[in-house]
Amino acid sequence: MSNCSSLYRKSFLKLLDLTADEIVGLLDLASELKTRKKAGIPHKLCDGMNIALIFEKTSTRTRCAFEVAASDLGMHATYLDPSGSQIGKKESIADTARVLGRMYDGIEYRGYGQDIVESLAKYAGVPVWNGLTNEFHPTQVLADFLTILEHFGSLHDKKLVFMGDARYNMANSLMVGCAKMGLHFVACAPEIYFPNPDLVRTCQSLAQETGATLTFETDPVKAVKDADVIYTDVWVSMGEPQEVWAERIKDLRPYQVNASLMSLAGSKAVFMHCLPAFHDLGTSIGREIHDTFGLDAMEVTDDVFESSQSIVFNEAENRMHTIKAVMAATLCEV
Ligand code: CP
Ligand code: NVA
Repeated sequence: MSNCSSLYRKSFLKLLDLTADEIVGLLDLASELKTRKKAGIPHKLCDGMNIALIFEKTSTRTRCAFEVAASDLGMHATYLDPSGSQIGKKESIADTARVLGRMYDGIEYRGYGQDIVESLAKYAGVPVWNGLTNEFHPTQVLADFLTILEHFGSLHDKKLVFMGDARYNMANSLMVGCAKMGLHFVACAPEIYFPNPDLVRTCQSLAQETGATLTFETDPVKAVKDADVIYTDVWVSMGEPQEVWAERIKDLRPYQVNASLMSLAGSKAVFMHCLPAFHDLGTSIGREIHDTFGLDAMEVTDDVFESSQSIVFNEAENRMHTIKAVMAATLCEV
């Protein structure tokens, strides 16, 4: 088994808390558990344990990844939906943490501020896993890195260009991950969408140790030159008000990932997206935006999403293998 022993009984809240060796350990473990799953070899490493999944925002991939991974590891999962518990409304996070910590071996939290998941971890007495906050989405980046590793054979020195709103959870987490693992991170957006300067400073000091570089670029043509990965995310994230759509579309439309942008990057570049993606009119929001603003797609066009350069479904599958590794490493002595 991989060496993740330092993560045993710890929470997984953001990549800034992990060393590069621990991230490598989790990726190795995920890869090993993926091989076992594909070979039909049982791996009930956490047999008999129980976990709680708190979702204050909606989810398809993260919830399903935690539930399938829990089942494969021999655990039972309780799902707490965005409206069906007392959390936040009648009971504080600190009290919720102390209750759930008495019943469960681990707790996943998806919601709003990073301070909430940090507080849950402080009071729960069991490992807490961040399933997405406004600031960070660390399990997604583990899946992204496993996917890049599988495709290119290494992470170090790869150039990852994030197109779009670089102030939010995905760009923040990718920037931290790249800085820790020695990738070249480029955020491409209008300047007002560049990441928080304090986080940039923290990442710059990490980058000095790993050989990573961080670049902030407003020109998409310059940004994507020699890119290995072109990454994007929705222009309006969960929890943001509907009123911001008009402004986001105006500001971020020049940063849409389309065929001409992909061709500037070259044929070796892959397209990645955490998903869900607005790439066609197959969603109610996509159709509303089409009717109001006349767009057929938003952050990525359908031809890119469906192209052979797109590895988004490998990335989605890897959510499960990497989340399984996080739970196994923090709950059992793997
Ligand atoms: N990428 C991701 O977190 O997807 P869900 O919102 O469906 O969980
Ligand atoms: N930035 C997106 C990521 C979804 C996985 C959101 O927070 O909605």
